[in-house]
Formats: sequence, structure tokens, C-alpha cells
Amino acid sequence: MSGTFYGIGVGPGDPELLTMKAIKTIQTVDIIIAPKTEKKDGSVAFNIAKPYLKKDVRVVYQVFPMVRGFSESTEAWEANKKEIMGFLAEGKNVAFLTLGDAMFYSTYIYVFRLLEQAGVKIETIPGIPAFCAIGSHLGWPIVEGDDVLSIIPATADAAKIRKTMAASDNVVIMKVYKNFPEIADLLAENGMLEKSVMVSRCGLPDEERIDDIAARKNEPVNYLSTILARKD
Ligand SMILES: C[S@@+](CC[C@H](N)C(=O)[O-])C[C@H]1O[C@@H](n2cnc3c(N)ncnc32)[C@H](O)[C@@H]1O
Repeated sequence: MSGTFYGIGVGPGDPELLTMKAIKTIQTVDIIIAPKTEKKDGSVAFNIAKPYLKKDVRVVYQVFPMVRGFSESTEAWEANKKEIMGFLAEGKNVAFLTLGDAMFYSTYIYVFRLLEQAGVKIETIPGIPAFCAIGSHLGWPIVEGDDVLSIIPATADAAKIRKTMAASDNVVIMKVYKNFPEIADLLAENGMLEKSVMVSRCGLPDEERIDDIAARKNEPVNYLSTILARKD
């Protein structure tokens, strides 16, 4: 009988922000898939889950080259899929760890689709998304009353970002590392710069809070950075 594939959201950084279900599952599976990028050695998601691993669990690191869309999935992705399918065929239960929530802008979504198409039995366990952890951690209400919130990936089309910001009361801006100066200008244009905050690596040992986004506009931004901003 083939095994089950679990997609587990491990939250943004603090190991105490995993759900009970995530921990229980991590402790029962046979194999843990720790995703990593080409550039870095470790896996952030794996390090968050590390305190909960059972002694004899097999950890398999898989490199997922960055892609912009599902259609771009490369040979490396297919090879990873094949490896996972091999484990499942042996009857092993496999957990794929992913940062924040599993179904929220994550690499896991692509893996999920590849395996879903192959008819694999999948269970996805949600995690706390970075922007929710940041709101609670800073004492920064994300939305109140009738506020309209938009979640904007800074990598989206500039005209779309401008239009969305203009139409929103509050915004969460993710993936700000690429065009941080442009995002800072758009926040100013929409009267949000004074009421914005950026957190890099929330919950990780080197977490940083940046209140004066304008002053940092031309400095490099860590990949794990999120901005919360509002108009009022
Ligand atoms: C590929 S998305 C993953 C989102 C994740 N699934 C979630 O639920 O938060 C990567 C983006 O998530 C945000 N992010 C993830 N972890 C973070 C953290 N610890 N601190 C700040 N932002 C984080 C950043 O905006 C980063 O560019």
C-alpha cells in the first residue's frame, strides 16, 4: 500500500508556532522532505521543525529552483517528484515542510499540484502565515471593522500594485526584496509610509523590525521580509 504525502506549514520562524497537528505528524512520518534553494545550504523550514524530529527519521533535502509559475516547473522539480513518488510506493509516509502556511505563496503548492495530478494521497496541514505572526508579535492589528485588506506580492505587475494599494485601507506586502525602493515610493504615494512597518525574519534569531522604511529604501532587504501598512 502506498504512503501518504503530508504538506506541513511550520509557521514563519518561532518553533512554538507549529500546530499540535503539525508536530504530531512530523513525529510519525518515515521521511521528511526539507526544501532548499540553490543559493543557501540549509532549509529554514527544516530548522524550525528540528526540535520535534524523531531520532530515526530520514531527512531528504531537495533543491527547488525558483519558478514564477507552475508551467515553468523544471527537470529538478520532476526529479524531486519522482523521488517522493518512490518513497510513497515503498509504503513510506512523507512530510514536506514549508514556511508559514502551506497554501499561501509557497513552493509546496507546486509540489502539491504535481503529486495531486499523479493521484497521490495528500494531507495538507496549515501553518501560521508570516503576516499574522508579525501582527501579533508587534501588537499591530492587521484589519479592523470594515477595513479592506490586500495582500500584495511585490513581485506583481507595478500597475496592478498601484491600483490595489489605492483601493485598499490596509496592505500586507510580501516578497519585498526585489523592488523595495519602488514599494517605499508607492507607500508614500498612498499616504501609508508613516503607518507602515517591515519585519525581516520574524521569529528567527536574527529578526529585525524596521519602522523607518524611507530611510532604509536603498539598502538590501532580506528575502524573508514583510511590510504591514495602513492608511488611517
Ligand atoms: C514564498 S513566500 C512564503 C509565504 C509563507 N507561506 C507564509 O505563509 O507566510 C515568502 C515570503 O513570505 C514572507 N515571509 C515568510 N517568512 C517570513 C518571516 N519569518 N518574516 C518575515 N516575512 C516572512 C516574506 O514576505 C517572504 O518574501
